[in-house]
Amino acid sequence: MEKGMLVLGLVAIMVVGVVVVVESSVEGDGRSLIINGQRKLLFSASIHYPRSTPEMWGSLIGKAKEGGIDVIQTYVFWNLHEPGKGQYDFSGRADIVRFIKEIQAHGLYASLRIGPFIEAEWNYGGLPFWLHDVPGIVYRCDNEPFKVQVHMQNFTTKIVNMMKSENLYASQGGPIILSQIENEYEMVEHAFHEKGPPYVRWAAQMAVALQTGVPWMMCKQYDAPDPVINTCNGMKCGVSFPGPNSPNKPWLWTENWTTWYRAYGKEPETRSAQDIAFQVALFVARNGTFVNYYMYHGGTNFGRTTSAFTTTSYYDDAPLDEYGFIRLPKWGHLKQLHEAIKSCSNPILFGTQFTLSLGQQQMGYIYQRNSGECAAFLVNQDDTKSVAVIFHNSSYELGPSSVSILPDCKNVVFNTAKVNVKNNTRLITTGKKFNESEMWQEFKDIIPTFADTSMRSKTLLEHMNTTKDMSDYLWYTFSYQHESSNSKAVLSVRSAGHVLHAFVNGASVGSGNGNHEKVNFTLDNTITLNNGSNNISLLSVTVGLPDSGAFLERKALGLRRVRIHDIQNSKDLSNHRWGYQVGLLGEKLQIYIDHSSSNVQWRNFTSSNNPLTWYKVRFDAPAKNESFGLNLESMGKGEVWINGQSIGRYWASFLTSQGSPYQTWYHVPRSFLKPKDNLLVILEEQNGSPLGISLDIISTI
Ligand code: GAL
Repeated sequence: MEKGMLVLGLVAIMVVGVVVVVESSVEGDGRSLIINGQRKLLFSASIHYPRSTPEMWGSLIGKAKEGGIDVIQTYVFWNLHEPGKGQYDFSGRADIVRFIKEIQAHGLYASLRIGPFIEAEWNYGGLPFWLHDVPGIVYRCDNEPFKVQVHMQNFTTKIVNMMKSENLYASQGGPIILSQIENEYEMVEHAFHEKGPPYVRWAAQMAVALQTGVPWMMCKQYDAPDPVINTCNGMKCGVSFPGPNSPNKPWLWTENWTTWYRAYGKEPETRSAQDIAFQVALFVARNGTFVNYYMYHGGTNFGRTTSAFTTTSYYDDAPLDEYGFIRLPKWGHLKQLHEAIKSCSNPILFGTQFTLSLGQQQMGYIYQRNSGECAAFLVNQDDTKSVAVIFHNSSYELGPSSVSILPDCKNVVFNTAKVNVKNNTRLITTGKKFNESEMWQEFKDIIPTFADTSMRSKTLLEHMNTTKDMSDYLWYTFSYQHESSNSKAVLSVRSAGHVLHAFVNGASVGSGNGNHEKVNFTLDNTITLNNGSNNISLLSVTVGLPDSGAFLERKALGLRRVRIHDIQNSKDLSNHRWGYQVGLLGEKLQIYIDHSSSNVQWRNFTSSNNPLTWYKVRFDAPAKNESFGLNLESMGKGEVWINGQSIGRYWASFLTSQGSPYQTWYHVPRSFLKPKDNLLVILEEQNGSPLGISLDIISTI
């Protein structure tokens, strides 16, 4: 048998030598990836470098390794690295080379998903917004401006060359064993009609021509052109993956979702350790030799990096939680699963696979070598009951939805449905309170009137194309002549998303918002008008740009129709004389940064209940080296900065159907803090009270 495999391997290599295998130390055939001549069974963990801090990377990678992980997988975040055309940033959290070197230092491999469209609940799916202004551009299809004219190809080449110049590909002795081009393109391909398939072919050719010396993947792209490997994404690849599109390509699972990300308006959901383990074991039983957990550590969407209506905390229920703590039983159950599967490595990688029906929904997957070495996976797909089966003359009780792993075809060393790891829970202790009004200073941002604005238009402008993603905020203002002694009227605004705060003559008259499932909404509010001239100021707010779907460049947000109905008539003001202002004054003056904070006149704290108010406080960091979460339950919606760095948007007033905030604690990385005199600045859009804020200590027990 062993000889047969070898011959098969040689044939495969000969066949593949022309088509699939790149000249390198990383190859793939129908059985597995082969790194420096060695077959590999690999467990991989998605950890995204900008979603934590360089100070955390080592510990996260170390905990992944301890959990039985061989590979760290990350996307590359185009708009993080090229925020302005030709202006690159690879510093701090964007230091991808440092991250890959950290992986290498831990003796692990890396899988680099360049995209450069990535989705990933990342602002605009990773595309820089400046692409929007490239004439004739249509993203992600057979469109020259997107593909070649220094855009997708340029960025992909830049990243590949950067990795090469640092010798980071496995073909150069580095850790990178895989790269990905595009992302789940099949999901949108049909929308592009005849412009889709040539783009797939072009993307594959363009990537392969970069000669990384390691295989390229396309996830969820069944027709990925040779030698690119098509891979599976989803929670159930153990059951659903039809396999690669060529017998010469290995079975790779690029995204096994360990939970689900949180988004405003979407009921929180998570996934059990047992279900994850069941699918992983089944995938390996069916031929899989590479499984990546998405996410293994989700982390934090700092600043304005999150996509539409996604929370700042990302995949907190992953095996490593947002703060980097091991989450049990998930982390431990998967560690044991990895050990059990690894103990079957030889038969899996060098044996022959055959299957045995053990019942209606029960199946045995057996890997056997000529030497007699044998490993078995006994699978019960019935989720309602246990079933006793006979295998190799012995009886086995298979629990509902379970895989029993027998590294010697005899003894069960692991059952995916049985968790024998203790749980842990998050412990939150109240740390520093900011409950004294004397601590705080405030600055009320300016509500501009039409006369204050310099950007004018006779129509309602599209939000994103006006802010160019330089701010979440866009003021739509107009002056309204009301000729009646009856002051009551109704302001009716239709918005394509995401949030609206309406002001009449400087006073707040109401807010509206969409949610993750339905971004558009209508606001109908009774207002009081002066007889004569009135200033109407409407603040449209985005909560992250969209990150999915075809024709992202055509998506529209912001106000679509504005009407005022009074007792006599109804006026459509959509084509009125509008004045615009991008961003808030405090943002423009960067009052969240220490040295520019004095650009405005701060006053002593008066009261909460003031929409669009900035609050600031100074504090010394707690002495102990602990993890911190800022408790913002008393606040409404806005953004927080610590020493000039944004820890993200918050939206504590958006409640789940159970009546609790989607997110209460916001991660403050230790490295953002100085021992003394830290500056905490909060922009509050609603009526939240900063007196309820505390810097809490996060740990696990
Ligand atoms: C996938 C996508 C990822 C991420 C994930 C959900 O479909 O490829 O980028 O968005 O869904 O977290």
